[in-house]
Amino acid sequence: MKATSKANSNIALTKYWGKRDKKLMLPQNGSTSMTLSDLYTITTVEFDKKYDADSFVLDGETLEAGTKEYDKVKKHLDLIREKAGISENARVESKNNFPTAAGLASSASGFAALSVAAAKAAGLDLSPQELSILSRRGSGSATRSILGGFVEWTRGEKDDGSDSVAKQIALAKDWPEFRMITTIVSTAQKKVKSTAGMAKTIENCPYYKDWLATVNEDIENVKKGIKEKSFTLVGETAQYNCLKMHATMITTRPPMIYWMPATIAIMHAILAWKEEGLEAYFTMDAGPQVKVICLEKDVPELEKKLKEIEGVQKTVVCKPGDGAKIIEEHLF
Ligand code: DP6
Repeated sequence: MKATSKANSNIALTKYWGKRDKKLMLPQNGSTSMTLSDLYTITTVEFDKKYDADSFVLDGETLEAGTKEYDKVKKHLDLIREKAGISENARVESKNNFPTAAGLASSASGFAALSVAAAKAAGLDLSPQELSILSRRGSGSATRSILGGFVEWTRGEKDDGSDSVAKQIALAKDWPEFRMITTIVSTAQKKVKSTAGMAKTIENCPYYKDWLATVNEDIENVKKGIKEKSFTLVGETAQYNCLKMHATMITTRPPMIYWMPATIAIMHAILAWKEEGLEAYFTMDAGPQVKVICLEKDVPELEKKLKEIEGVQKTVVCKPGDGAKIIEEHLF
């Protein structure tokens, strides 16, 4: 009853921002994303009678029982134990190859990896769609990390959430030249986490209804752009959609301004480079890091220019990556 999985993170091209059901983690709106090749979580789960309690170690640090993080992981394991009809406690060890909670979607790869490893360790044989629904219960964006390449997470209409799942738009090999350069401008933990941030936005942002009214058009454009390999359509739509989401964050009370000076410097630079003929677009989540959307041919020039911007600490170039999978090497 032991299994290990590897799940890549994903970055939304059109964002998920808001829940319509907190318990089932159903979104107010659909979203699309690219699964990243080089930012991932590896998780080993073992269920065994020899464990007196659940224990979780994340990046070498033990999560203390009673903390919010511990309870979240335990709740997720309870769901899986219930499905599988088992009662053994679990030992879980997890490793990210990037900073946790700094706007690099660690909860996406984290809950996707946990779901895949724990389901397998519990003896469940779930389809990718079922695994995406299970991952969704841990964190919304994790729904999309189950599949590779380009993914849509459908909003769904049903109250039980059975139609709020990951769907394949295109495989990683369908557009191998597509790139995202992740720029790390700060490794500090973010002030307001997504879960709390989106709830506040729904509560009092006067423009949230306008966000919901325009998201579907963006999703259709991104899907069309991916299918036709129109880089301009995908990039422009993703950038526009990200700015609309941030407009709702900024106009929530109290305001959530995730951008740092370097975030804004990169945005200005990208807009200026585009005028000069170097085509790239930006997108940001609930954090200061900028993900630069570009094509393979422009990566060397963009990386060089990005590193010259004050405050840019590191860049990581990501290709479209694979979906979550079981691997043979256990962490313990
Ligand atoms: C801005 O999936 O981290 O990155 O569902 O509450 O766990 P919970 O939130 P999370 O939110 C992601 C928000 C986002 C946009 C996106 O990835 O679509």
